[in-house]
Amino acid sequence: MENLINLVNKLQRACTALGDFGEGSSLPTLWDALPTIAVVGGQSSGKSSVLESVVGKDFLPRGSGIVTRRPLVLQLHRIDDGREYAEFAHQPRKRYTDFGAVRKEIADETDRETGRSKQISSVPIYLSIYSPNVVNLTLIDLPGLTKVAVEGQSESIVADIENMVRSYIEKPNCIILAVSPANQDLATSDAIKIAREVDPQGERTFGVLTKIDLMDKGTDAVDMLEGRSYKLKFPWIGVVNRSQADINKSVDMIAARKREREYFSTTPEYKHLASKMGSEHLGKVLSKHLETVIKSRIPGLQSLINKTIVELESELSRLGKPIATDAGGKLYMIMEICRAFDQTFKEHLDGIRPGGDKV
Ligand code: GDP
Ligand code: NA
Ligand code: MG
Repeated sequence: MENLINLVNKLQRACTALGDFGEGSSLPTLWDALPTIAVVGGQSSGKSSVLESVVGKDFLPRGSGIVTRRPLVLQLHRIDDGREYAEFAHQPRKRYTDFGAVRKEIADETDRETGRSKQISSVPIYLSIYSPNVVNLTLIDLPGLTKVAVEGQSESIVADIENMVRSYIEKPNCIILAVSPANQDLATSDAIKIAREVDPQGERTFGVLTKIDLMDKGTDAVDMLEGRSYKLKFPWIGVVNRSQADINKSVDMIAARKREREYFSTTPEYKHLASKMGSEHLGKVLSKHLETVIKSRIPGLQSLINKTIVELESELSRLGKPIATDAGGKLYMIMEICRAFDQTFKEHLDGIRPGGDKV
């Protein structure tokens, strides 16, 4: 049976490829109904580092200032045939095995849309990574929240970023990965501030605490990690990413993960929490949670999808056959994906209905 997360990935990509579907269409509603995970936090809080650790690869542009200026929809696909590569939706026929080149293409594609200015754009970049070292997961990297505009940026950028972030995380189907640095007071965390606005009960927010290794001597993150500083429904997860010095020395990701594991299992304050800490654990928790959420939404999604199929069929017949136009081809593609979705949902429902075959 096709993995549910991968299927939702395809549907998300198809919805976006189709773009403006016109008034009254179910497609925007369908896109909003698809569960996603968005990464939010202040600039330099460690968002890119967290994403790279979860993926286990260096591939994100880095630097000071606003590096992430467009949403990056990162789709992770676990494959076990030993290969490891990346693909962009805007370059469907190109396979990247050099992740340094992936980093460059993210930067270039950002510039193509924003014209090399330091402005931001809400048009997402879609990147798929196929690897034996990832869990099936979709994560959306968003520009970091900031308090001041820098040289070359309009004054409105602070509010623009906040509004863009909010437009993703205010959707009830969005799971919020709120990244806060442990060496700052949680009360001042940009991530928590905006997450609290849209999810006051903390029911769909995962708190991630970075830079635990950078805390002042004599202080520790136990109160934060155990939810006494800010309570969320799900346990907080602490991580230790690579420092700038590590990055400059090219400490590789596998070594960094190993060191992170050792950090939590050998630091007396965190020993008792060690099995629930770290980037690898975070990846697994998120993948499992995303799948649970998707499963719980199957009935609602299924009826939306059926509605979409009906719409697409009538749109296709209006266009007439054979479908020569680009739009027709895309419509056809999304309809095929919707049908696959419908079929997979039926299989999953059979699996969970009493008397149905076990999944
Ligand atoms: P972003 O702006 O939120 O994407 O933050 P980055 O991931 O680019 O991280 C900003 C800086 O903080 C980089 O120099 C990272 O190496 C460093 N950094 C991030 N997380 C940690 C951490 O857990 N420990 C240490 N020592 N440095 C970190
Ligand atoms: Na923050
Ligand atoms: Mg970043």
